[in-house]
Amino acid sequence: MHDLDPGDCEQLTIVHDRTSGATAAVALHDTRLGPAHGGIRRWPYASLAEAVRDVVALARAMTWKCALADVPAGGGKAVVIDRPGLDRAAAYRLVGRTVAQLGGRFFTGPDVNTSADDLRAVAAETRFVASPDDDGPGDLAAATAIGVAAALAALAERLGRPLDGLHVAVQGLGSVGMELCERLAARGARLTVADLSPERAAAAGARFGAAVVAAEAVTAVPCDVFAPCALGGVLTVPVAAALPALGVCGAANNVLADDDAAHVLHRRGVLVVPDFVANAGALIQGALWNLRGERVPAARIERIGATVRDVFDRAAAAGQPPPLVALAMARERVERGPVGP
Ligand code: NAI
Repeated sequence: MHDLDPGDCEQLTIVHDRTSGATAAVALHDTRLGPAHGGIRRWPYASLAEAVRDVVALARAMTWKCALADVPAGGGKAVVIDRPGLDRAAAYRLVGRTVAQLGGRFFTGPDVNTSADDLRAVAAETRFVASPDDDGPGDLAAATAIGVAAALAALAERLGRPLDGLHVAVQGLGSVGMELCERLAARGARLTVADLSPERAAAAGARFGAAVVAAEAVTAVPCDVFAPCALGGVLTVPVAAALPALGVCGAANNVLADDDAAHVLHRRGVLVVPDFVANAGALIQGALWNLRGERVPAARIERIGATVRDVFDRAAAAGQPPPLVALAMARERVERGPVGP
């Protein structure tokens, strides 16, 4: 392995703009099921090697997400190396030119630290981007919340508890978390909420009749389901070993810090919905819009519930943690290739 390892990616492109000094990387992990989809992340990577490691891992995760969401798309991602004084417009135009050169093999959009203005800079160079000014696929955060709610309903069913009265602790009340609370409250769930912003937490408390706890306390709240909707990496081994919940289901990507955390939760009998299955709503809505100009009905996103049941069945049969089983299912689907229209 060398410093700039493309791993199992189909294509890794590193681009540099001499005038502005901006550097970016675009990874297409796998396009056997369809054109790659993935957003643009801007991050102060310490080195090009670190940026490449991240873009490869993120693109790979998108491949698995597409496969289990049953959309004819593959995994891709773009990263921009951030630094003080970066000419952001030039950096995003550079990504736009790279996406244009890929000629439709990669569709991109927002990710961490990419704003509407950044996307406009990309859109100046390519049409293969979710531009804030276009007649786009609709509210993607709402789509994500629809999917998480469907996944959570499948989890509740497996736990043998009705949604009505189910106690859910929601971590993070951003665009997805708030919408999820709305949907759960409408189905009679009892909510405990937390956010780094006390104002957001208080607003959710008032709106949904939810109990409010401090951000650092939410993983210690005894509940039926813990719903992480803030950041990834929350479930480390120590947190997993103590989490007082029967199940986990949320929107945050890579919520398990590592496979050990998955095993710890599994041994404790905590049922985990794989994050990349639960949070695929935005991908489903965005990709089917890009590829077919289709505005998907909520029912299409709610099929995530059936996928969760399938993952749980296979995980129970194999005696393995659901996130690891879901990964194996995704790999198998990609290897099998496209099926039908
Ligand atoms: P957002 O940025 O709108 O909201 C995140 C919220 O989490 C903010 O209110 C923030 O204050 C809060 N937060 C951050 N750290 C926290 C902590 N330690 N404890 C409690 N609260 C904390 O993000 P958004 O769009 O709602 O996404 C939530 C998660 O879902 C992210 O991890 C994102 O990557 C993931 N996701 C989002 C999708 C979307 O469609 N927006 C699609 C798939 C995944």
